[in-house]
Amino acid sequence: MNNQNLEDSATTTNLQTSLAPEILLQAKGISHTFDYPIFSEIDFTLKQNETIAIIGSSGCGKSTLLNILCSLLKPNSGKVFYKNTEIFNLSQKKLLELRRDIFGIVFQAHYLFRGFTAKENLKIAEFLNDKIIDMELMKTLKIDHVLSQGIGELSGGQQQRLSVARILTKRPKVIFADEPTGNLDKNTAKEVMEVLFKYIAYEKAGMILVTHEEDLANLCDKIYRINELKLERIK
Ligand SMILES: Nc1ncnc2c1ncn2[C@@H]1O[C@H](COP(=O)(O)OP(=O)(O)OP(=O)(O)O)[C@@H](O)[C@H]1O
Ligand SMILES: [Mg+2]
Repeated sequence: MNNQNLEDSATTTNLQTSLAPEILLQAKGISHTFDYPIFSEIDFTLKQNETIAIIGSSGCGKSTLLNILCSLLKPNSGKVFYKNTEIFNLSQKKLLELRRDIFGIVFQAHYLFRGFTAKENLKIAEFLNDKIIDMELMKTLKIDHVLSQGIGELSGGQQQRLSVARILTKRPKVIFADEPTGNLDKNTAKEVMEVLFKYIAYEKAGMILVTHEEDLANLCDKIYRINELKLERIK
């Protein structure tokens, strides 16, 4: 092979590697039981740049699955990997680092620090993750004018938008969102979701979105439903 061919084949190999979307999160054979079985042998994969919605009736196990995937709940059996790392095998210290630096978790109920102002809540994320608050993002989320108010003085929807802002300030690689727009009117919900989708595309991150709303789910690349202990792909 002459040099030109060598270079050509090297370029092709590089292209192939860079074109293959990287797997961010992978779950294998997840089973979990509380008072009764919730899942049995579920597999799941999230790639870079991908958004996946999980839907299903109330109580079917959506939040439980999200808690397992984001490392907060160890399943009865099965494994969850972030890239090549099996997360439930990590030391407590490494697991905390993963949650702090890589994962962004938006809960159904938002855990803001109540004794502090909105800005102070953002500062905590900024300080913990060594990142800078993006004021343009606060304007887009329409919370730039309430940053000096205490958490108790914010409306439910403003708290929800602040939670999203706080998570994005960390610049996570995987976003886990449990009904992130549940308290918002349709238009505001759409704006918040647009912010999240833009973030995923810009950062080449991935998102798992739990929602009841079909409209929202349809904005994602794939949709799964939890049905009879299994994950059923419906888009
Ligand atoms: N820590 C727990 N201990 C015991 N049972 C639990 C626990 N967490 C959840 N469950 C049960 O597991 C089932 C699934 O709960 P989960 O919160 O995952 O549902 P969900 O699909 O998120 O529902 P919703 O749409 O109402 O938020 C429910 O029957 C719930 O009561
Ligand atoms: Mg839930």
